[in-house]
Amino acid sequence: MLICRTGAEIRDFVRQARAAGKTVGLVPTMGYFHEGHLSLMREARKSCAAVVVSLYVNPMQFGPREDLARYPKDFGRDCAMARQVGVDAIFAPSDREMYPDGFSTCVEVTGMTDKLCGLSRPGHFRGVTTVVAKLFNLVTPDQAFFGRKDAQQALVIERMVRDLNMGLEVVTLPTVREEDGLAMSSRNIYLDPGQRREATVLYRSLRAFREAVKRGERDAGRLRGIMVDMIAGARGAGIEYVEILSVPDLQPLEVINGRVVAALAVRFGKTRLIDNTVMEV
Ligand code: PAF
Repeated sequence: MLICRTGAEIRDFVRQARAAGKTVGLVPTMGYFHEGHLSLMREARKSCAAVVVSLYVNPMQFGPREDLARYPKDFGRDCAMARQVGVDAIFAPSDREMYPDGFSTCVEVTGMTDKLCGLSRPGHFRGVTTVVAKLFNLVTPDQAFFGRKDAQQALVIERMVRDLNMGLEVVTLPTVREEDGLAMSSRNIYLDPGQRREATVLYRSLRAFREAVKRGERDAGRLRGIMVDMIAGARGAGIEYVEILSVPDLQPLEVINGRVVAALAVRFGKTRLIDNTVMEV
């Protein structure tokens, strides 16, 4: 497995792969891998002849009071895990490589980024789309793989790719969960044992939403109420948002119909967790 630190190195790797007639898959990540990341890499391995994983904690998508400085890192462990699932190249650039002096261009998807995570994390999605656009330009993948745990992120990236004619396929894959339902996330390690136990309320509330819809409930306010009441009952849980919106446009709904997402962000102490479920109604 090749480790590339510069744009020139990863471009060179991709040039050689293309010359050998290979398709290229990209899995963009911020590292500290778990089974969710590995499921994306395995899928990329199945569908593409050359697999690149980018590993970069992108400062542009963190707010000034967020966890950039303490974001978990273990480059050696990440490389070993990526090698084991058959990744061909890791692209792990420095901040200077990604944002050299004078950097002043951003990519921004408007409208769908000013709700859900975009409300409490202003500028977050501009940071995500800017870095992902740079990664797409460097790697020129045929397919790029994202997890559905960040449902809004996946929809925003799909929109960017469509709007800017980026000519690649965005593949989104199901959220990988712990046995008790908690969505896998690099940030789960911040939780103390008590918070970790209570954090299963995110999954339980999404399951309650699905069950209520299956019983015939269509009123978005009442469905939201079911989730809010359940989360409020968990010790130490601070709700940031619980929303039910249309997919893919993320418009608010009074009565649910068609493809909808129930999405939530909940804080346990300083740790912010997100989860969602998408249903066809
Ligand atoms: O989902 C993530 O890990 C990040 O937002 C991404 C897509 C790698 C961009 O930094």
